[in-house]
Amino acid sequence: EKGGFEYFMLKEIHEQSKTISDCMRGRMNAEEGWIHLGGLEEFSNKLLDAQRFIIAGCGTSWHAGLIGEYLFEDLARIPVEVEYASELRYRNPIISEKDVVIALSQSGETADTLAALELAKSKGAMIYGIVNSVGSSIARLTDAGSYIHAGPEIGVASTKAFTGQVTLLSMMALSLARKRGTISQTYFLQLLHELSYIPAKVERVLKNENKIKFIASEIKDSANALYLGRGYNFPVALEGALKLKEISYIHAEGYPAAEMKHGPIALIDEHMPVIVIATNRSAYDKIVSNIQEVKARNGYVIAIVTEGDETISQMADSVIEIPDTEEPLTPLLSVIPLQLLSYHIALMRGCNVDQPRNLAKSVTVE
Ligand code: F6R
Repeated sequence: EKGGFEYFMLKEIHEQSKTISDCMRGRMNAEEGWIHLGGLEEFSNKLLDAQRFIIAGCGTSWHAGLIGEYLFEDLARIPVEVEYASELRYRNPIISEKDVVIALSQSGETADTLAALELAKSKGAMIYGIVNSVGSSIARLTDAGSYIHAGPEIGVASTKAFTGQVTLLSMMALSLARKRGTISQTYFLQLLHELSYIPAKVERVLKNENKIKFIASEIKDSANALYLGRGYNFPVALEGALKLKEISYIHAEGYPAAEMKHGPIALIDEHMPVIVIATNRSAYDKIVSNIQEVKARNGYVIAIVTEGDETISQMADSVIEIPDTEEPLTPLLSVIPLQLLSYHIALMRGCNVDQPRNLAKSVTVE
């Protein structure tokens, strides 16, 4: 059942090329230039007229939601707020029938997410679900939605569900952007093509596993780790840190790279591994200077770079290459080395990777 892999988590990491393809299957065609998401088409007027989207989720699903915010605002120019479901439900939020609430949940059973949706529904908002488990409580509560079709996720640490959620959000943002006319036909087609190449590029990232294992052996005894990213890769930094803490029990934090100087830089010394996602074209020089700041304080820099990168490769202590893609789609590739890095560190530390202490796969209590 683990398909020859030692743990479900490893199997699920390696499945991602396929699960991302499954998520796209029948819903888009880059050659013909279309995207069609059943749930979205049916309610497209409601979505296009929304005054804002509120994205709600917990944990990894909340991280996917943050990427959704960047996608919807950047491409479709729709205002978005991303909320921890547990906060949304208790803070007397302003929600009306003009809002669309997008729920993200792998299990479809998370108690806080479910309660937040019930609240939003009582205030008249339309609820759109992006869920993995078919027929789950959240899926049943929504007005419309799209399944991510990742198949059962058994490892407690979410991996393929995250990339499925991000794939779905990317398709949704592209479809809405096209309908709203906020991106050109040329850019739309370019992104669509790039999206269709993602599964093959995921395979290429997975080929770096031995290198990642080596890096894992270098930092496995660290007490702390810092993850930095900018723009679309900032939520990936948060996700990388969560993956590490939940399965290896190493304390880790994710930060937007530019925030480092507002506090976390004080933590950096030769014992601090700093994992920098450095693939953004738009902020390349800024990332280079962030890395210089870490190196100047003897931090150990592991950089995720675009294939062929020379500048950062010379500055960092270790690099992991990922194929080039359009910036809005980089999270689908940049998260994969971080999943593998956490997996191998946890394994080397003798942790139960699939069932970390204190954690449950579905958090059905608040
Ligand atoms: C992290 C993880 C959790 C879940 C969170 C939400 O790897 O698995 O943080 O992402 O409990 O769960 P779902 O998506 O089922 O609502």
